[in-house]
Amino acid sequence: MIERFRPDEYVASVSDIDFDALWGKGIRGLMFDIDNTLMLFDTDTVPVPVKEMFARLKEKGFTVWLLSNGRSERVESIKKQLQVEGTSRAAKPLMFGYKRLLKQAPDLKGKVAVIGDQVFMDAHLARRSNSYGILVRPISLEHDEKQVKARRKAEARIIRKLGIVPKKLAASKDRRADMRIDGNTTLFGVIGDPIGHTLSPVIHQILIDHINENYAYIALHVKKEGLEDFIKGAYAAHIAGINVTIPHKQAVMKLCCRIDPSAQLVGAVNTLKWTPEGYVGYNTDVDGFSHLVQLAKVPVKGHKVLILGAGGAAHSAVAVSYLMGASEIVIFNRTQDKAKALVKEFQDRIRQRGDKDTRLRTVSAENLVKEEFTIVFNTTSAGMAPNVDMLPVSLAEGEETFYSQIRFALDMVFNPSETAFMKKVRQGRGTAVGGLSMLFYQGIRSFEIWTGKKFTYQESESMFRSFMERAENCV
Ligand code: ATR
Repeated sequence: MIERFRPDEYVASVSDIDFDALWGKGIRGLMFDIDNTLMLFDTDTVPVPVKEMFARLKEKGFTVWLLSNGRSERVESIKKQLQVEGTSRAAKPLMFGYKRLLKQAPDLKGKVAVIGDQVFMDAHLARRSNSYGILVRPISLEHDEKQVKARRKAEARIIRKLGIVPKKLAASKDRRADMRIDGNTTLFGVIGDPIGHTLSPVIHQILIDHINENYAYIALHVKKEGLEDFIKGAYAAHIAGINVTIPHKQAVMKLCCRIDPSAQLVGAVNTLKWTPEGYVGYNTDVDGFSHLVQLAKVPVKGHKVLILGAGGAAHSAVAVSYLMGASEIVIFNRTQDKAKALVKEFQDRIRQRGDKDTRLRTVSAENLVKEEFTIVFNTTSAGMAPNVDMLPVSLAEGEETFYSQIRFALDMVFNPSETAFMKKVRQGRGTAVGGLSMLFYQGIRSFEIWTGKKFTYQESESMFRSFMERAENCV
């Protein structure tokens, strides 16, 4: 019974379909579902990589059709953008949409692959129409139509029962195909020491692939003593944008011609943009962290926030809490003197801005349990792989009470994706969000600053999903 839903292939996205192999199997016609397979339901512009894929398919000799239940003007416009032979209102779950298209090319009988994201609508109908069925994981579940949303649960059960997992083409294969470096390539990069484990090239390659410009992004190992020479050389060589990571985030400030106000507030720069006057310094960790706060719907405004840690990452958390209007910012750090220094640093900066409303103070380990903290941001590295069992706060007494009182927790650690701290909070009353989306979003912001491109929420979400998949293989 369940077998009639089994697709011939299940892939992570349309770019993971091995069309050469399909051609080898004798497939000559491709029938694509549009919504959530090729592009998001509520967008009208076809993404550039999809356009390119269609051009390649036609060049190879495939006959390509579109099939959709969607509104006809939109489908017409998509058809035009993709220059395809035919479209049909699918009238799913009925068969006639498929049949009508198949009738247009009788010689392709038995040589057609149906490609779609719904088990019932696409994979099952492919089987019934004697076509080759390729099930594609939907681009985004959030943007499904209501009736589709309801079906997804049943579909997920069937996929589980069939025991199938989405296939991805080897990353190296599609990366090589996409890579294009020539005399006009605009170069971006990240510098740090060490730099071997950075995920920034993975993030930026996803963004570059998405907009398909002649850009390249590389990681460069720059030591402290080489920083100034590097920046001068990079500027002369017109490197258009540079991400800066540990240990250079403060030192690079004096090499900038101007510093953006939020970077000034944090006291650190993680993004440089080439301008005719010199490199301008920005801090997109702040944008990344505010994205995380908004994503988790943390009610910072008017509330007390506890920040764990007093290093570089804590600076972004303090700045965001301040900018979002926290009534009180409390710092706890294993080494108390560093917490005190951080408070002093921000008190001075906040005073310079003429603000008297936000209180900043430190708290000691013994006093942590004497008050209630419901909003807690972890900026320490405790719990990061390989020390996955380590908690940012370990107390001889009252530890359970401390964790059980937390309602909202953000953890800047992104490896593992669920940390020991997040688990503790979730076991109690709280919701907890990890740092992977912060990392991705700070990358998006840097890229936007460099290129002037603005990504929509939907674009960011769908690229974040690809990032999560690639990050799983990297971290
Ligand atoms: P980053 O720039 O990522 O914040 P950092 O400047 O080295 O890195 O700061 C790391 C922070 O994590 C510090 O606050 C550090 O505490 P100390 O100042 O006492 O060193 C904190 N930290 C690291 N490991 C920790 C652990 N196992 N438990 C608690 N705090 C820890």
